[in-house]
Amino acid sequence: MCGITGYIGDGITLDEDDDAGAAAGNGGVASVGDIVHEGLRNLEYRGYDSAGVALVGETSGLTVAKRSGEVDNLTVPDVPDATLGVGHTRWSTHGPPTDANAHPHTDCAGDVAVVHNGIVENHEALKRELADHEFTSDTDTEVIPHLIEEELAAQRGEGDLLNAVRAVEVRLEGSYAICAVREGEDEIVVARRGSPLVLGRDDDATFVASDVTAFLEHTRDVTYLEDGDVAALSADGVEIYADGDLVDRGVETVTWEADAAEKGGYEHYMRKEIHEQPEALRQTIAGRLDVDGGDVDLDVSFPPGFLADLEEIQIVACGTSNYAGRYAAQLFEELSGVRATVEIASEYEFGAGRSPDRTLVVAVTQSGETADTLGAVRRANAAGARTFAVTNTLGSTVTREVDDTAFIRAGPEIGVAATKTFASQVATLTMLAVAIGRERGALGAADARPVLEGLRDLPGAVQQVLDAEPKVREAATEYGDSEAFFFVGRQLGVPVALEGALKLKEISYDHAEGFAAGELKHGPLALVTPDTPVLAVLTDGARADETMNNVTEAQTRGAPAIGCVSAGEEYGTLDVSLPVPDVGLVEPLVANVYLQLFAYHVANDKDRSIDKPRNLAKSVTVE
Ligand code: F6R
Repeated sequence: MCGITGYIGDGITLDEDDDAGAAAGNGGVASVGDIVHEGLRNLEYRGYDSAGVALVGETSGLTVAKRSGEVDNLTVPDVPDATLGVGHTRWSTHGPPTDANAHPHTDCAGDVAVVHNGIVENHEALKRELADHEFTSDTDTEVIPHLIEEELAAQRGEGDLLNAVRAVEVRLEGSYAICAVREGEDEIVVARRGSPLVLGRDDDATFVASDVTAFLEHTRDVTYLEDGDVAALSADGVEIYADGDLVDRGVETVTWEADAAEKGGYEHYMRKEIHEQPEALRQTIAGRLDVDGGDVDLDVSFPPGFLADLEEIQIVACGTSNYAGRYAAQLFEELSGVRATVEIASEYEFGAGRSPDRTLVVAVTQSGETADTLGAVRRANAAGARTFAVTNTLGSTVTREVDDTAFIRAGPEIGVAATKTFASQVATLTMLAVAIGRERGALGAADARPVLEGLRDLPGAVQQVLDAEPKVREAATEYGDSEAFFFVGRQLGVPVALEGALKLKEISYDHAEGFAAGELKHGPLALVTPDTPVLAVLTDGARADETMNNVTEAQTRGAPAIGCVSAGEEYGTLDVSLPVPDVGLVEPLVANVYLQLFAYHVANDKDRSIDKPRNLAKSVTVE
């Protein structure tokens, strides 16, 4: 998840308290460079691996500046005649966070510059077609300016940037939002498919960004682009094309206050991040699924023979990441035929009697910095096992200590309670399980296909659950004041139940516990009363009918029951039934989104410090 922004106009006359004015240091007029730089500061929550700008002026031409590190590391060049500019803040997916990989990227002649959010899935094939072009980065993005260059050349001097981008856009596969500029042209051309892009309209200027936060201090009149739209922005207005036709997308007025705007209009980062899950999951799977071929490409290769001889996969992780690991362990066994165990990282020892050269130790860690998980990796390395990290954070310590890494690509997560990263961890681990199963010959293409179809459909399924939020909010209001909450499930529903309980206790400070549903009757049932709601995962992959029997046992003792139920199934006795779209093995993961929303609304009704719960930290770097 990266942030992109752009501005076209004559600069802005500033108020004393205007942020861009403060940055300009003159209290008078903020230049195009200042405005774009300020927009990037406002978007830094979307990524902070590198930053860059491209500015275009009538006589100065195209000026590009970019460097790795946070937005304030970037010195924006002074280009007094610039009338338009675009900028980018990066969350790395293809290529490490270096100066060369920072956006904007340019064509061979240095006439065209592009910033991009998303992933061009077919970049390798496109790059092969552009064999005579000179590439200077490892990014997928760089194919775009070169394709535009080709297109402009094909149009033999007749062409303009808008037509070139329209021709190129249809060749890109994957998700993207792009802004392109060209020396000698007084417009910014933008396009979106699958990644957000919003335009800001003022009397004599136009803004564009991944999120209104970038320009909200200048205008509240916005136009949201839709997938497939390509637009030409000038200082006087915008022309938006969809399927070749000029369209009117209307103008809306944003009414959020500045603080809410930083959170995309949500009151808390956590709720925003819950709602970002479809976008995050799209990034997680982008370019990695070959559904028809029944295969995945995680861009990792094990030494010859290693997977064939593999005896055990040990997953090490803490907290939410541990629950992602528990989910994955079941999939590793089912899909790759390898025995899989999960250990709490702080408890992990390699263990006598295991063979290090036949063991893969998978560390699951959002931050890549959790001391307990790093300790476990070090113990596994010391024992001679092969180590593998599944993390969100490029360049993090864990990536430097393991043999291989797969990135979950969820984008920055600011809320202390992990939400979107859990979903992206499970999705990445599912792909890893398929990859290992396929390579070992334990999983045929025909059996892999439905798993991959489920992953492909996951973002849409999560969106359906998010659209049903009012129903969960109602349940949270009705049951939120209960004495305690029990979460139950079976099989893949167990880690989801554990995660649901963890989320609730973390942010609401209520007592909540997750159990394997069958265990209720072996003890915890003594705690069940009419004041202890039971939340159950009743989906495919979670032995729903048997779980429902246990829920009924709790209901008999007066407990209210809320169930996340596979769409089309019905358990008439549930007090609240929340439908979960059918996505096969990842269906319980979709149910988890209801539990996240339930925790959020219970905590919000109690006015808790949701993004920074008491006593907790986002990254736990002590043992
Ligand atoms: C819970 C939560 C924590 C983390 C745990 C591990 O919402 O966020 O339980 O999952 O501290 O952190 P990472 O994944 O960064 O290793």
